[in-house]
Amino acid sequence: MHMPHSFPACLALAAVALGSAGAAAQTSSPAKQLIAHRGASGYAPEHTIQAYQLALDQRADFVEPDLAITKDGVLICLHDDSLERTTNVEELFPDRYSRESAGRDGAKEWLANDFTLAEIKRLDAGSWFNPRFAGARVPTFEEMVALVRGKAGLYPELKSPPLYTARGVDMVKVFVDAVKKHGLDKPESLETTPMIVQSFDEGAVRRAAADLPGVARVFLTSSDADVSEARLKELARFATGVAPEKRVIERHPGMVGHAHTAGLTVTSWTFRADDKFAFPSVRDEMAHFLYSLGIDAIFTNNPDQFPRRP
Ligand code: G3P
Ligand code: CA
Repeated sequence: MHMPHSFPACLALAAVALGSAGAAAQTSSPAKQLIAHRGASGYAPEHTIQAYQLALDQRADFVEPDLAITKDGVLICLHDDSLERTTNVEELFPDRYSRESAGRDGAKEWLANDFTLAEIKRLDAGSWFNPRFAGARVPTFEEMVALVRGKAGLYPELKSPPLYTARGVDMVKVFVDAVKKHGLDKPESLETTPMIVQSFDEGAVRRAAADLPGVARVFLTSSDADVSEARLKELARFATGVAPEKRVIERHPGMVGHAHTAGLTVTSWTFRADDKFAFPSVRDEMAHFLYSLGIDAIFTNNPDQFPRRP
């Protein structure tokens, strides 16, 4: 999607976002869609304004923010539940690791939800990736939207709803309130800035269907059990698309047709130059999934390698 849209391009985009109901009105196949995974995260630190701007420069159709919630209730763009992998939190706040949870192998973790936005804004979110990004900050969802709106679509992921529920925070409600506050669910906004909500959490996708019925929603999975014909039909009752991990699709290529028949779009992840399994390049791998297996959209760390075809 390259702004400004032509009218037919808008229709095609909406058709892919909303599934079969929209697709039925189309006379030709909608264009394949490029989602910049955590921004152009192959080239800039994930979930920074720099990575999002590069995604726009590389003509992404959508930019993906994974979402977390600060101690004071602000949506921020962060993949992990905790801050230590992508920031210098351990250096600035050495004693503020969680006493109630630990990461893999029992490692200490600094949960984002234990820090206020003001504290998180002090962190360097760029140096871990490359010293030339020193000083990059963790963006809020509002800041991300302000950058991307009108230039590409938004593809927010509700990352860990159960973690917040256990702490008395309703992540879906916080997100829905933010969407409504900014009118992101209004038809006039969706026409210029399409939005697709995604989650591995089935309950969150079901609630998005109820609370934001005009917004497309995609169920993420890395389970073979989620791509059986019967399960896809069940998913189509509340989701507009399914997004299996790429190896699931490779093992079950027939699921693409079954999903389309059920009215679901098919998206996959994650296509990255440093993990392209059997293919000579990430561009070749993306082309295989898009044009041989027939999926509709791809999350990639390398938006500049997306194989567009007329
Ligand atoms: O959201 C699609 C893909 O990003 C899922 O993987 O772990 O990178 O969020 P993850
Ligand atoms: Ca994600």
